[in-house]
Amino acid sequence: MDSNKVRQTFLDFFKSKGHVIVPSAPMVVKGDPTLMFNNSGMAPFKDLFLGNAPIKNPRIADTQKCLRVSGKHNDLEEVGVDTYHHTMFEMLGNWSFGDYFKKDAIAWAWELLTEVYKIDKERLYVTVFEGSKEEGLAFDQEAYDTWKQFISEDRILNGNKKDNFWEMGDTGPCGPCSEIHYDGRSLSERKKVSGATLVNNDDPQVIEIWNNVFMEFERKADGSLVKLPKQHVDTGMGFERLVRVLQKKKSNYDTDVFSPILEKIEELSGLHYRPDDEEKHKAQLIINIAMRVIADHIRAISFSIADGQLPSNTGAGYVIRRILRRAIRYGYQSLNMREPFMYRLVPTLANQMGEAFPELKSQKMLIEKVIREEELSFFKTLEYGLKRIDNVCVELSNQHKENSLVDGKVVFELYDTYGFPVDLTSLIARGYGLDIDEKSFLSHLEEQKNRSRAAATVDTDDWIFTAVQWRGEKGQTVEFVGYETLECESYITRYRKVKSKTKELFQLVLDVTPFYAESGGQVGDTGILDSPNDIVQILDTKRENGVIIHITDKLPENLTAHFHAKVDGEKRALTQSNHSATHLLHAALRTVLGTHVEQKGSLVNEEHLRFDFLTFQSNT
Ligand code: ALA
Repeated sequence: MDSNKVRQTFLDFFKSKGHVIVPSAPMVVKGDPTLMFNNSGMAPFKDLFLGNAPIKNPRIADTQKCLRVSGKHNDLEEVGVDTYHHTMFEMLGNWSFGDYFKKDAIAWAWELLTEVYKIDKERLYVTVFEGSKEEGLAFDQEAYDTWKQFISEDRILNGNKKDNFWEMGDTGPCGPCSEIHYDGRSLSERKKVSGATLVNNDDPQVIEIWNNVFMEFERKADGSLVKLPKQHVDTGMGFERLVRVLQKKKSNYDTDVFSPILEKIEELSGLHYRPDDEEKHKAQLIINIAMRVIADHIRAISFSIADGQLPSNTGAGYVIRRILRRAIRYGYQSLNMREPFMYRLVPTLANQMGEAFPELKSQKMLIEKVIREEELSFFKTLEYGLKRIDNVCVELSNQHKENSLVDGKVVFELYDTYGFPVDLTSLIARGYGLDIDEKSFLSHLEEQKNRSRAAATVDTDDWIFTAVQWRGEKGQTVEFVGYETLECESYITRYRKVKSKTKELFQLVLDVTPFYAESGGQVGDTGILDSPNDIVQILDTKRENGVIIHITDKLPENLTAHFHAKVDGEKRALTQSNHSATHLLHAALRTVLGTHVEQKGSLVNEEHLRFDFLTFQSNT
């Protein structure tokens, strides 16, 4: 079964079970400060699990583009070294929002795997949550009893909190889970050693393919678990792993998801990808790892750019830039690539995945162009870095001192500024008969980590609900009336404290609000909440997980008071004019430069507008 058919079969199966099939959400998350990228299929539905948004379709299925390179779920260091972790991957998922629960989820998973995909039952193991004393959670008897109807009990294994209690992040929806594992070893190997002993033990041939999470709790900022109003199902099957199983391969990279890209890398580098030789020949292993890294990373980068996230120096853009640079470095170091090559993989990828993800086809030229520009500039950086390390080594060698080491500060600078991995610097130094001061390098690295940790730490308290009886359903929606009016009567329905290193602010949610939340580049409204005894200054308005949040530095004395909410009208009017001007500018650019001009970002406030776009003509 080719990979496109595998994907379609999954979607068709769940459609036949009453699920609505939806397209993948973008990989880059906007409007949720706890998440930079979608790291799992459920992330776009976080609000539905938490009860913050109304459930329209209780059954949904899709394939979601995920990226696991930061935060709680980060697989970056495994990628390329092993054959089954990826930065970007597709997660096939089916969801029940307060509808079916464990019994149906398990029965359908089993039916799809064994009757539709016809996977050999003798190769499957499942795990169930053993319970946790510290969390006060019991063994998952219901999952166990359901599995017992399908699979012999010696294939149902207990799993601990680490493996069998799934959490999206430090806070948010979570619950016990049940995983399905596949044993890909030969019959004789399986006879010798039972697969049951290899489940969740990093064996490259005994791997998890599907996780069924039974969402019942919300993890609060103080670490406590609170029962959700409804019970949900969240499942995630690794598409690339499933394809590998169905195509009977030993590695995800041997499937048709990756082989066209690997062939192109072979063509560009003049080297060969030979997975069977890597155990015996270290040189081949180095080449194979580099090729796997590149084949993996080109997907992450291309999909991000197609979703509108360009490489940059901050936030999500910086993560993408680092992934791209990591791939270039591997090409440079292990495949002797000396000029841009990543962008030349884009047509192959677009060809391979453009049916399922049309954005790859429609944005192909843009993706190539952006990657090529990045590559050109990073190759220059690499050259500077090489010169720098050469100079340092020559100088040290000329001093003819015994046991002199390359200063850890220089090694760190090369790592941080030029993206040189330590082993590359060490290799170059060894060419001069020198070693690097690794201890000092590590302490510089640690210092930097502490610095950025301290700068980035934001403590967000849990929401505190005021006792106000309000007009909507509690916790569900905020009514926005700001298009019709700039003033209205409002109550505060909940609030929380957000503390960063430099300041302490409060976020307020109103039942009805005229305040426009920052969106589409337009800055959020400012203004006041006025009551007989208090005036609260609203410094900014943002949208988070679909809720309008008003930011202030001081809470009112009486949180349940009746407020008159008033937007700064002059600022709003000026900002709105500038917003309209971005549309005029966009139309003008499309007329003058061509219809390919797409908005890639913008900032609109009361003073000016900024409009980011890319065009293929230079000097315009
Ligand atoms: N959300 C679950 C996971 O990512 C299915 O494993």
